[in-house]
Amino acid sequence: MSNILQLSDKTLADIARNIAKYPPEQKQSAVMAALIAIQTELGWVSSEAIATVAQILEMPTIAVEEVATFYNMYNTKQIGKYKLVICTNLPCQLTHGETAANYLKETLGITYNETTPCGTFTLKEGECMGACGDSPVMLVNDKRMCSFMSKEKIDTLLNELRAEGKSA
Ligand code: FES
Repeated sequence: MSNILQLSDKTLADIARNIAKYPPEQKQSAVMAALIAIQTELGWVSSEAIATVAQILEMPTIAVEEVATFYNMYNTKQIGKYKLVICTNLPCQLTHGETAANYLKETLGITYNETTPCGTFTLKEGECMGACGDSPVMLVNDKRMCSFMSKEKIDTLLNELRAEGKSA
């Protein structure tokens, strides 16, 4: 059986706050928020994290695992400091999306689902982000949307993240 994680007070409070949004008999509804809270603390969702959520929400581990593996916002493997997701759906691909994706691979020296040796960047393919008119579109760490990603803008973004990563 997987070990249960020791989580920070902040993460536990975040999970409790989300559980409180639902009637006690429906606390399983907080599963997505609980997974996000743990991912925010640890950077990814391990099998121990899944077991921990299952225990807290009193639900089968497999049910939590199904949620964690269904949505691509959950990192079920360790990733770099910055997760770069580039939309590879057709509308973006028709508007320089492929050029941007290839440039990212070439510049970072990795392909999809890989992490740079320094541990700074992980590159992933993403589905439509609802901003097809802004193609090429990227998402940084699931939160920051970047539009019209020309080669120049990609260079600027990568340099900014590298500098931020060093100073953090
Ligand atoms: S197809 Fe890329 S944002 Fe819609």
